[in-house]
Amino acid sequence: MTELFPVPADFAKNALIDEKTYEEWYQRSVNDPDGFWGEHGKRVDWIKPYTQVKDVSYSGDVHIKWFADGTLNVAANCLDRHLETRGDQTAIIWEGDNPNESKHVTYRELHAEVCRLANAMTDLGVKKGDRVTIYLPMIVEAAVAMLACARIGAVHSIVFGGFSPDALAGRIQDCDSVLLITADEGLRGGRKVPLKVNADKALETCWSCKSVIVVKRTGGDIHMVAGRDHWYHELTEKAAATHTPVEMSAEDPLFILYTSGSTGKPKGVLHTSGGYLVYASMTHQYVFDYHDGEVYWCTADVGWVTGHSYIVYGPLANGAITLMFEGIPTYPDASRFWQVVDKHKVNIFYTAPTAIRSLMREGEEIVKKTSRASLRLLGSVGEPINPEAWLWYHRVVGDNRCPIVDTWWQTETGGILITPLPGATALKPGSATRPFFGVKPVMVDAEGKSLDGAVEGNLCLAEPGWPGQMRTVFGDHERFVQTYFSTYKGMYFTGDGARRDEDGYYWITGRVDDVINVSGHRMGTAEVESALVAHPKVAEAAVVGYPHEIKGQGIYAYVTLVADEEPSEELRKELVNWVRKEIGPIASPDLIQWSPGLPKTRSGKIMRRILRKIAENEFGALGDTSTLADPTVVDDLIENRMNRG
Ligand code: PRX
Repeated sequence: MTELFPVPADFAKNALIDEKTYEEWYQRSVNDPDGFWGEHGKRVDWIKPYTQVKDVSYSGDVHIKWFADGTLNVAANCLDRHLETRGDQTAIIWEGDNPNESKHVTYRELHAEVCRLANAMTDLGVKKGDRVTIYLPMIVEAAVAMLACARIGAVHSIVFGGFSPDALAGRIQDCDSVLLITADEGLRGGRKVPLKVNADKALETCWSCKSVIVVKRTGGDIHMVAGRDHWYHELTEKAAATHTPVEMSAEDPLFILYTSGSTGKPKGVLHTSGGYLVYASMTHQYVFDYHDGEVYWCTADVGWVTGHSYIVYGPLANGAITLMFEGIPTYPDASRFWQVVDKHKVNIFYTAPTAIRSLMREGEEIVKKTSRASLRLLGSVGEPINPEAWLWYHRVVGDNRCPIVDTWWQTETGGILITPLPGATALKPGSATRPFFGVKPVMVDAEGKSLDGAVEGNLCLAEPGWPGQMRTVFGDHERFVQTYFSTYKGMYFTGDGARRDEDGYYWITGRVDDVINVSGHRMGTAEVESALVAHPKVAEAAVVGYPHEIKGQGIYAYVTLVADEEPSEELRKELVNWVRKEIGPIASPDLIQWSPGLPKTRSGKIMRRILRKIAENEFGALGDTSTLADPTVVDDLIENRMNRG
């Protein structure tokens, strides 16, 4: 029996949403979406109020529009509208990699800084609709850059600082960015990350990008290209601290964020302005039960969607105090998170299961020596949280006092979709529990038949939907329709498997497609494979995920070498480094198995199902192998399975 954790009485007293409200609002959100969202859309300030609410179709001519005739500016909603009421309140608490470095930035200061950069970007010729790539570490300037883009109507595309020059170049080229905003170097765990060097290399092949703005973070020795590169501090010093925000239509793009799928290159997930902001701010308020004046900390990087919605846009739209952390959980030691919680009196803490699992290994003592008395609510995101890690998080970090919101969502969804509301939902460790307003989960079998009751299946989402959903794949609407709306007609297919229990709670079981979730980061198997086969000694490669104690899933690569090449430890290291260089450290294979042959059908298709089972050490469940061109390949692979051979 799963243990049930009811809403603590103390928590319920002040909670924004109770069980009854959840039920009422949920029913209305799916039965009368226009009425429901028509009301809740007013939580943001509109320049021209909308008269239309929902215009969505998941079939036929697939399109998603919300509040389409309204106009607004997202940055003005995150800054200007707070100036009168909370101009001198902290907007961002920045905690540096070095524990002796931190600062508070007020809404007024942030507003002035964003205006300066908006003016500087305009002077460089950046206009509404232009794309701007941001390749920055976790410094305040990252939020400033996002908001300055939003202010002038430029579309930002953030590339995580851990990505390689090639990966950065691909993302700049795909959307023809005109400007890159980067830093000399990043700083993580005491180590420097050569951002400008990487950027210089990437820009060798990016013709669209005419200007670079460089933030001085470490003062490291870098090369500035005359006419192209500009120091951030020089541009902003001389720019005016006032700026009139550009009026944007609700459906004007706000940002692009590249994410891995089962096939091909990463997709540019496109989010627009009005619906996204309504949804990000509303979920931030209700899922985290955010009350004015509380200190809220999401440990993600702004390079991922979690950083977009729940470090910057959601919290700032709500006038919250949001903490930005430059470092890593284990530097200078493994109690850093809890030290930061005590230092800044954090009330709400949101992190990933992989961080919890790795800190669990260090034991309770290191947590217990900190107070954490300020904590009121904990959150989890990015991958399934195993009940053991959930229980540890609850007991050790939260002292049995803080509810945990296990929030399931995706880059594509813009905001949290399945989650407890902490004042309304009894918790089950390992379950993301119930849908947020507007979200209609449907469980389907492989044939696309909807399944009722307590079942396991593929997780789809039916209309009416929620306003924060992605609108298209940048530059390729057909790929958008194909990827998400063609597998199961009339529904959005998430790529995840799930189980629904007898209480209607959802348990996400993980990806059912060729995407691997490594430490909460998505990696397409096809991307890693194409990096591997680009190596001159590799003839063929197949990549699958396998259970990994800390990372959730690890990357398992089957590699066939070209004739006359012999496997060796040296070559294994060379291939791991090669993938790191091609994509970035997060794509490094954890295990490489030398495979003279791969299991293929007679038509030449690699049978990944079999490779997955072998990687998982589940040799008994291989299923039918008779359709293989050469079934003996499988025996060889089993014989040589890493842990055995
Ligand atoms: O498989 C699900 C997993 O992460 C995927 C989305 O990854 P990404 O777009 O990078 O966004 C991560 C942050 C929202 C999902 O398809 N996932 C995310 N959150 C959870 C989760 N799996 C289980 N439980 C979660 N809470």
